[in-house]
Amino acid sequence: MPEMIRSKITGLGSHLPEKRLTNPDLEKIVDTSDEWIRTRTGIVERRILDGSLATTDMAMDATQKALKIAGLTPEEIDLIIFATVTPDYRLPSASCILQKKMGFKNAGTFDIVAACAGFIHGISVADAYIQVGKFKNILVIGAEALSTITDYTDRNTCVLFGDGAGAVILSASNDESGVLSTFFKSDGNQAELLWIREGGSLIPVQNMEDNTKKVYIEMNGSEVFKHAVRQMADASQRSLKIAGLKSSDVDWLIPHQANIRIMDATAKRLGIPREKVFVNIEKYGNTSAASVPIALDEAYRVGKLKDGDIVLMTAFGGGLTWASAVVKWQELNHE
Ligand code: ACO
Repeated sequence: MPEMIRSKITGLGSHLPEKRLTNPDLEKIVDTSDEWIRTRTGIVERRILDGSLATTDMAMDATQKALKIAGLTPEEIDLIIFATVTPDYRLPSASCILQKKMGFKNAGTFDIVAACAGFIHGISVADAYIQVGKFKNILVIGAEALSTITDYTDRNTCVLFGDGAGAVILSASNDESGVLSTFFKSDGNQAELLWIREGGSLIPVQNMEDNTKKVYIEMNGSEVFKHAVRQMADASQRSLKIAGLKSSDVDWLIPHQANIRIMDATAKRLGIPREKVFVNIEKYGNTSAASVPIALDEAYRVGKLKDGDIVLMTAFGGGLTWASAVVKWQELNHE
């Protein structure tokens, strides 16, 4: 019987911009309070990208760190999958811009638009390509400059979002560790719960009213909340089942950092105790597609992840979209 090819995480990295936007900063621009934001979301501050930079600048730093740990050169990457709703340009893709900046001359590229669940969609697609033997080394990125699509006069949304990037390299391996299972799904019927109304092909730039606010994220927060808990728990249960595991086998739950109450409720549904949930939302807010790879990288760097740990990642976002992945962690080469 031929040996099973598995995709294994061989490198990872993240980037957070230096500039901080704190709750007291937000108190000065909208009718809100530090107390409301902390108790309703768990967020204390978020990072904001310098106006002269773009999403791929953050992705570049995260990718350089991931390549270094994996011991790979850009030429050895076969495919770049870039999850983002804030590419540098409408055309071409963020993955093509990153390719140009970093010299990935042997790679194919594409972007994924699945909002906060985009990174795990990318892991799922990369895993499938590796398993069938099509590619050996795939770079999966989640990176967002959400500050560029946030309305800083809307207190319902502007307190939530931040900027950042995370990158993971998946490589073909015959080890028993690596990606054990993935799952993703969506429901386009719920598109209007979380969307940007204008600036697309239906209402293009030339047809927009001057100073329109409709090029920013609009969200029905309480509805999104309910779907997020239900679908992240469901996706997690499905990917655990595919991997032949139970919630009690999970060493770390790394959920999309959308809201501390969403994370707590999801963990509760899954029966995973709070001490096994990795949380860093207080520092970065919701960074959409970047949130899971940033959290994974931080969990790794602070020494939380041990050889053989079962890591369950799950995310949920606009679309609506949701996804999960189960990974058996293995020690990485150190820098
Ligand atoms: N400061 C003070 N008050 C506020 C603020 C704020 N920043 N934002 C809303 N409020 C008010 C509302 O106006 C409302 O007031 P009202 O009762 O007088 O109308 C009140 O607080 C309660 O509003 P709710 O929406 O019921 O508050 P909720 O407890 O649901 O919390 C929140 C709101 C934090 C947005 C929550 O619903 C949430 O986290 N939703 C999910 C967000 C998310 O996960 N998005 C998904 C991913 S994002 C992506 O895909 C890009």
